Amino acid sequence: MKPLGTVISTEESPTTQEFSFVLEEGAPVKKNQFIQTASEEGTVFGLVREITRANRYFERAESVAEYEKESSISTHFPVKSWEYAIGEVRILGLMNKVGDKYRHWRVSLPPSPGAKVLPADEQMLNDFIGFQPDGLMLGKLQNHDVQAKVSMTRLLQKHLAILAMSGAGKSHLASVMLEELLDRKKEDGRISVVVIDIHGEYIGFKSDPKYGKQVRIVEGKSISVPFSNLNPELLGTLFPDMTGPARVELGKILKQMAEDSKQNNTVYGMQDLIARVETAGMNKNTKDSLMRPLYELLSMRLIHPTRKNPNLYELRPGEMLILDLSDLDDQKRKKAIVTLIASRLFKLRRKGSIPPFMLLVEEAHNFAPERSKSVHTPSKFVIEKIAREGRKFGAALCVVSQRPVQLSTTTLSQCNTHVILRVTNPNDLDHIRQSSEGLDDRTMRSITSLKVGEGIIVGEAINYPAFVEIRDRKSRKMEKGEPLHLQAIKFDSDQQKKEEEEDDEIEAFLD
Ligand SMILES: Nc1ncnc2c1ncn2[C@@H]1O[C@H](COP(=O)(O)OP(=O)(O)OP(=O)(O)O)[C@@H](O)[C@H]1O
Ligand SMILES: [Mg+2]
Repeated sequence: MKPLGTVISTEESPTTQEFSFVLEEGAPVKKNQFIQTASEEGTVFGLVREITRANRYFERAESVAEYEKESSISTHFPVKSWEYAIGEVRILGLMNKVGDKYRHWRVSLPPSPGAKVLPADEQMLNDFIGFQPDGLMLGKLQNHDVQAKVSMTRLLQKHLAILAMSGAGKSHLASVMLEELLDRKKEDGRISVVVIDIHGEYIGFKSDPKYGKQVRIVEGKSISVPFSNLNPELLGTLFPDMTGPARVELGKILKQMAEDSKQNNTVYGMQDLIARVETAGMNKNTKDSLMRPLYELLSMRLIHPTRKNPNLYELRPGEMLILDLSDLDDQKRKKAIVTLIASRLFKLRRKGSIPPFMLLVEEAHNFAPERSKSVHTPSKFVIEKIAREGRKFGAALCVVSQRPVQLSTTTLSQCNTHVILRVTNPNDLDHIRQSSEGLDDRTMRSITSLKVGEGIIVGEAINYPAFVEIRDRKSRKMEKGEPLHLQAIKFDSDQQKKEEEEDDEIEAFLD
């Protein structure tokens, strides 16, 4: 391998923590690139944190200014040949091979000045970062020809948060991850995926020739719980402030209705329940505390006399259920759906009735907001519960948010892996810094200069924070909602048509 440069001796380095090297002319060294060099302890592994360039001819401001007045300095001197570049390296450890894998050790001696600096060996890099051959291929490691293959278990078991500003590529990354999950072979372990799709961004999977068969879409409007499943516990999950006595009364009435339903062979709905509560003899306060949630539930149209949609028992490993909520306007209804689906998934999973799953929640700050009590946002309670307890049961959470500051800190801190794409808002950056371990100042600065589709993975999934370039999608991208300019053209031409028709009508009338 061609050397990239040579370790130099400066006042501060080399130490056991850092060293500098002078770059060979034209060496393809980049910031945030991994390198290696040899010491008597073995192979020292490090990361180029910064590159500086220097040139003796340009060191003294007054002489540069003086020369440049007449003509360029370069016409008088061979300035180019005096330019050199220095790479500053942070030492990350020793990497020595044990068996067929590289192991990581602490450095106790610095590399010697004069030692050659080489590009990091590919296998060493994989072993250092902790990429795995059978992992989810999310893209490539920045500055290296190494595929970013992240272990599914390490990425998801202790939950994942995808954080970035709007348009940075969060949903794109989520789609790439979904492809990888759908592509998994049975023998590698396949999970079910449930997607809370707020904007109808994932529906393209259904019409994709490769993935379509593994995907089912349920539209928000058709999501319903059959009346026979309604019980005090379910209502209590949706309306946590319902009082104990109200639950007891509800339990009694529902029990009676179930018996009547069996006896008379009739099906009941919300209206029947409300009518029965209205005429039932009970304390007025209890009745009031029961009527409000019942009316709210009625207006959400979530309870259907018989229909159960989706039937979560039908979840299969290697398949994906997309709940397309883009047809709903009512925020409360969306939150109620997320609450019901998430709590039911968790319950069924705990009983072992459904496969291990990942629940992907887009716009997670709306469903698990930091500044809202569970009473107003019952989904927050359920999401936090899965975040805290899910890993024992194979219930994984992937939260996606462009407003990390507004996302529940409990949820965020339980997400042991964060993928952070471009973020520029200082508040969001601060918040991310506090909730993600292993991010130093320099790395934080790099996050603001990421391009769309570039990000950093930190946390449980890998051994060391890694900048990655997310790969292209393989699946069909299809979004609800046409681009703005097409909507504008359509509106204009519709308007014109309407006016012409009106003109025709007037003319016909005048004729
Ligand atoms: N790695 C990538 N390669 C190619 N295109 C990408 C990549 N990442 C994102 N894009 C494109 O950039 C655009 C924005 O990406 P995306 O919709 O994923 O952003 P987002 O972070 O989910 O935004 P929002 O917060 O608005 O939901 C899309 O057109 C997407 O196809
Ligand atoms: Mg998005």
